[in-house]
Amino acid sequence: MATVLTQSYPFLKSLLFKLDAEKAHHLSLAGLRQAESSGLLAKLAPKLPPTRPIECMGLQFAHPVGLAAGLDKEGNTIDALGCLGFAFIEIGTITPRPQSGNPQPRLFRLPEHEALINRMGFNNPGIEKGVANVSGRQHFPGPVGFNIGKNKVTPNEQALDDYLIALRAAYPVADYVAVNLSSPNTPGLRDLQGPEATARLLEALKKEGNQLASQHGRKVPIAFKVAPDLEPEHIRELSRVFRDGGLDGLIATNTTIDKQAVGSHPLGDEQGGLSGAPLTTRSTEVIAAFRQELGKDIPIIGVGGIMQADDAIKKLEAGANLLQLYTGFIYRGPALIQEILNKYTKAAV
Ligand SMILES: Cc1cc2nc3c(=O)[nH]c(=O)nc-3n(C[C@H](O)[C@H](O)[C@H](O)COP(=O)(O)O)c2cc1C
Repeated sequence: MATVLTQSYPFLKSLLFKLDAEKAHHLSLAGLRQAESSGLLAKLAPKLPPTRPIECMGLQFAHPVGLAAGLDKEGNTIDALGCLGFAFIEIGTITPRPQSGNPQPRLFRLPEHEALINRMGFNNPGIEKGVANVSGRQHFPGPVGFNIGKNKVTPNEQALDDYLIALRAAYPVADYVAVNLSSPNTPGLRDLQGPEATARLLEALKKEGNQLASQHGRKVPIAFKVAPDLEPEHIRELSRVFRDGGLDGLIATNTTIDKQAVGSHPLGDEQGGLSGAPLTTRSTEVIAAFRQELGKDIPIIGVGGIMQADDAIKKLEAGANLLQLYTGFIYRGPALIQEILNKYTKAAV
């Protein structure tokens, strides 16, 4: 059922799209927080169709649609975003120490392609602030994931230390931790997706996770987030590493560095990662390839170019257990969640 919020989104979007993309982003999140704390947002909240809850990574999800990392980097807008209908929210990427990210402008809209290009570079307030923000949430009942990364100044040889610092800090408040190996905007980060580097990281993080589990009396699943720009052989090798290492979940995919699809656009050669409609098919193919290699046991969170309900269903059919939105949510607003769930309740996935 459409609500004031879903109906007014196209108009709101037309105003926001007149502003610089990053300014519009901050303004929207501030507006959402304000509307939530005044109680207005809960009254305008979209009505979602009843769905059966999903168990995944040992956690309960009200439905399969969550928010992807990068929109609430600080973890200070969880309650408001929850009101819009997300079943789970992944905050971050958060690094051990605060960092300002790349110089602006660093976020670009390509409306003709329903796409974004970003080279934000992990602008974030640091893990301590992230933990404080998440601890301060009031209403959101769903799982909150912490997407963690390394600081830009940390060399890859010491990346593990950064991930361990962030894992330890996030553990008491996170429902799951997502290890980001796939942002194209931190130089060299994607090198950590090499099978040997990934295996070392996974082994060390799982070991630390086991210790933290006995210390805190609860297990926080660890997921790895991968890029869409992987060759079949690389997917096979990584899948072997993930199976052997007992990975709890895979998030596929991050943005792509392949910008052929937007080559004719004036902003098409901006440096950074491309998201939205040009990523839909590639991301679904990567999910299908991982599902084939991983077997049934490792859950996959499917993300990348979900712009309409059909895209979501195709990702579930390709083997995703849960879904995440970012760019589609910017272009379509909260109506996209409703649309997906309406189709999902009728689909046999
Ligand atoms: C502006 C922007 C910032 C992002 N920041 C992050 C981030 O900090 N960490 C991360 O893992 N992914 C980040 N992402 C990637 C998204 O989480 C998602 O994987 C990707 O955009 C593909 O999904 P989409 O096509 O639905 O946007 C970002 C994406 C965008 C558009």
